[in-house]
Amino acid sequence: MSLKDNLIAEKLPRHIAIIMDGNGRWAKEKGKDRLFGHYNGVESVRNIVEGCAELGIGYLTLYAFSTENWDRPKDEVTGLMELLVKTIRSEVATLNKNNIRLHVIGNIDMLPKDARNELDEACDETKNNSGLNLIMALSYSSRWEILNAVKNIGREVSDGKITADDITEEIFQQHLCTANFPDPELMIRTSGEYRISNFLLYQLAYAELYFTDTLWPDFRKENLYKALFDYQTRERRFGKTSEQV
Ligand code: IPE
Ligand code: IPE
Ligand code: MG
Repeated sequence: MSLKDNLIAEKLPRHIAIIMDGNGRWAKEKGKDRLFGHYNGVESVRNIVEGCAELGIGYLTLYAFSTENWDRPKDEVTGLMELLVKTIRSEVATLNKNNIRLHVIGNIDMLPKDARNELDEACDETKNNSGLNLIMALSYSSRWEILNAVKNIGREVSDGKITADDITEEIFQQHLCTANFPDPELMIRTSGEYRISNFLLYQLAYAELYFTDTLWPDFRKENLYKALFDYQTRERRFGKTSEQV
């Protein structure tokens, strides 16, 4: 029996965010180079996207490349960028077939121009799909995103469009890359690291965090169901008492 059968449909999160970590260590264990791990990580992406779509999850955000990852050895960065863009391009047909809409968040200006064009096209070609929203965090860092939001709000204030007192949580959220998405209820990180690594710092305020030792290239639907099962056993109190919720 699959763990999937134990999940309660009404208690599934609307939005799952995943830090896909451990590709390098997975490859090293097999005596291969780091890019081999990234290539195999793509298979997990496919599997988990499919799993989320089957479950009827509304939003899946995948942390694919952080702003800090630009500082990795040049060969890895170039290889990883090529892999990401090539994969996204070749998956468009499947995304359309499965009614999945692609979004990209992050400092896309740091990507080479042809890569940006490919991503824009892929997002555009899936924009009418109404099933799962697949959000790829690429060249993303939360501090960059928050600073960007602050700068843009500052400009609106100095242009006289709003006053400082008009700034609400709602307005702030509207200036984040995730303006159109609900906050994740569940954040999963693979590879046994217990940190957030500059991912959705604002949006994860009340997310349930799930950490697993499984390395990303080994992470499959059954691992996702296990995380969801764990999530469903938790009591989300949002600051209230147990009796209140
Ligand atoms: C995650 O795997 C993928 C990216 C960060 C791009 P890593 O490449 O970080 O793998 P480890 O953590 O070194 O094993
Ligand atoms: C976080 O993983 C970024 C992604 C998964 C894309 P890292 O491997 O870069 O994070 P650290 O360096 O372990 O914190
Ligand atoms: Mg890592």
